[in-house]
Amino acid sequence: MASTGGAPRLELVWPKKEEFLLSAKDATGKPVWVPKTHPAASEVRLVNFGDTCGHVGPHSGRARDNLVFTGDSLDVLRILAEHPEFRRHYRSQVKCVYIDPPFNTGQAFKHYDDWMEHSTWLSFMRDRLLLIKELLTADGTVWVHLDDTEQHRMRCLLDEVFGSQNFIATVVWQKIHARNNSAQHFSADHDFILVYGRDARQWRPNRVARTAKSDADFWNPDDDPRGRWRRSDLTASKPYTDGHYQVVGPHGDVFSPRQGRPWGTSQENFETLRNDNRLWWGKTGRTFPFRKRFESELGGLVPNTVWLHEEVGNNREAKGEIAAVFGRQDSFSTPKPERLIERVLHIASNAGDLVLDCFGGSGTTAAVAHKMGRRWAISEIVPATVRDFIEPRLRMVVGGSDQGGVSAALRWAGGGGFRSVQVASSSYDVMSDGMVLLSAGATNGIFAQAMAAQLDFDFDVAGIPFCGRRGRMRLAVLDGVVGPEEVRTFATALGEDERVTIVAKVVLPGAEEMLRSLSKGSRIRKAPRDVLADGSRKARRRETAAP
Ligand SMILES: C[S@@+](CC[C@H](N)C(=O)[O-])C[C@H]1O[C@@H](n2cnc3c(N)ncnc32)[C@H](O)[C@@H]1O
Repeated sequence: MASTGGAPRLELVWPKKEEFLLSAKDATGKPVWVPKTHPAASEVRLVNFGDTCGHVGPHSGRARDNLVFTGDSLDVLRILAEHPEFRRHYRSQVKCVYIDPPFNTGQAFKHYDDWMEHSTWLSFMRDRLLLIKELLTADGTVWVHLDDTEQHRMRCLLDEVFGSQNFIATVVWQKIHARNNSAQHFSADHDFILVYGRDARQWRPNRVARTAKSDADFWNPDDDPRGRWRRSDLTASKPYTDGHYQVVGPHGDVFSPRQGRPWGTSQENFETLRNDNRLWWGKTGRTFPFRKRFESELGGLVPNTVWLHEEVGNNREAKGEIAAVFGRQDSFSTPKPERLIERVLHIASNAGDLVLDCFGGSGTTAAVAHKMGRRWAISEIVPATVRDFIEPRLRMVVGGSDQGGVSAALRWAGGGGFRSVQVASSSYDVMSDGMVLLSAGATNGIFAQAMAAQLDFDFDVAGIPFCGRRGRMRLAVLDGVVGPEEVRTFATALGEDERVTIVAKVVLPGAEEMLRSLSKGSRIRKAPRDVLADGSRKARRRETAAP
């Protein structure tokens, strides 16, 4: 039990929960724990846009294009939530997040290692889920794909981040259909997909297509011109005051609802159904009545929680799809079948909605989202995986030559495009004594961009001497010293009602007093110290916002 000042709440605790897990340089990096005040706990990285493929929008709207990020999911999520160029297109705007993170199975896959301490894995996931929550629309959902290794701990974590009231469902996916008879105890045939809403009350699933199996009991013994129908019970399962009456069949037989239950419809409506030939009294016309429900009048099916491999594919199908794309069998170790992702995206999004997957793998989510007309962004930490799987696969999707997976069902013929984006390295170097310095790469203009991103300013060098703007607040960045003289220059350049945030590496005595006297509400931030402190305050606000 933990208390947040008020009533104690149920909570999963784990070692180092209060610390911050640094993002690894690659998926096989060893975990490093630092206090939450560490720069990396709040740093917003810069990005470098790379190649484009197919049709993309204008340069000015590049953050709105479909995006393949090479970088750690934590950095990418923070860029999407906080970097001024991205956040206006991403914050509260992602309709569906599907993630298939490392399951923590203890295996070393060909393209990434899958082992962390349970507590490390929980911190790793917690920090990413907190950011995912900020990206989701009010009626958005997150789908977390796992197996039995961590799914029970993840349920607790998702309750903590999203609130238990926002739990929607646990989908069981039949990933294997041939029993593994050499298993020590059980053949584990399924994975789990945990579904949570940003606000479950606001989310409505799209219905799924009817199947031959679900429609097997439709018939048309009376040759009704409206087509096939199925019988539906006319009695109510709950008390219904208007449901207590007797009805007379076509041959004068009198019927009361069975076992003392009322009819589920009023007598007036019963007669309307009779007049419209919507009642079935059996082939003889003398049996207890049922309502006729026409196949043509029924919508799709409400999604269920057991997804069988015949409906959405299995692991073998996924491997086959990858083999078909890349022409070799031994390619990516843990792809998911396109039909499975299509089911997720169909239920949770519509054409034009934004879809995100920050554990890209072979790029299945992006490939399927693209074919389904969704906008999308994915990230992957291992550059070789992006180079060898994600980008070539998506180039084939865009070009229309990927005719595998769901292409045939969706009549996919190519189109659209995407941009590749590289997450830049950190702007900070951390010394062995814990002192934080600006890295060499963070100087020479990049410093100004990094500070703008960090402090929530739109980077804008048009208005010299300023380099950023946030409403009436301007940003000035000095890659060196600020003294009273520089302060005067900036204060004089301000427009009416404008204020300035000045960032400098060294602040001389008298500078702050001068600024206070010339421009009320303006301020000086010393980099990196004050900038980092601002960032950690923001990160703390994020955590306390969790339910
Ligand atoms: C289970 S696979 C995803 C498979 C994917 N759903 C597909 O259909 O191909 C998990 C992926 O997450 C990547 N990964 C691991 N840690 C990551 C991190 N911190 N940031 C981004 N990607 C990461 C791994 O390299 C791996 O490619």
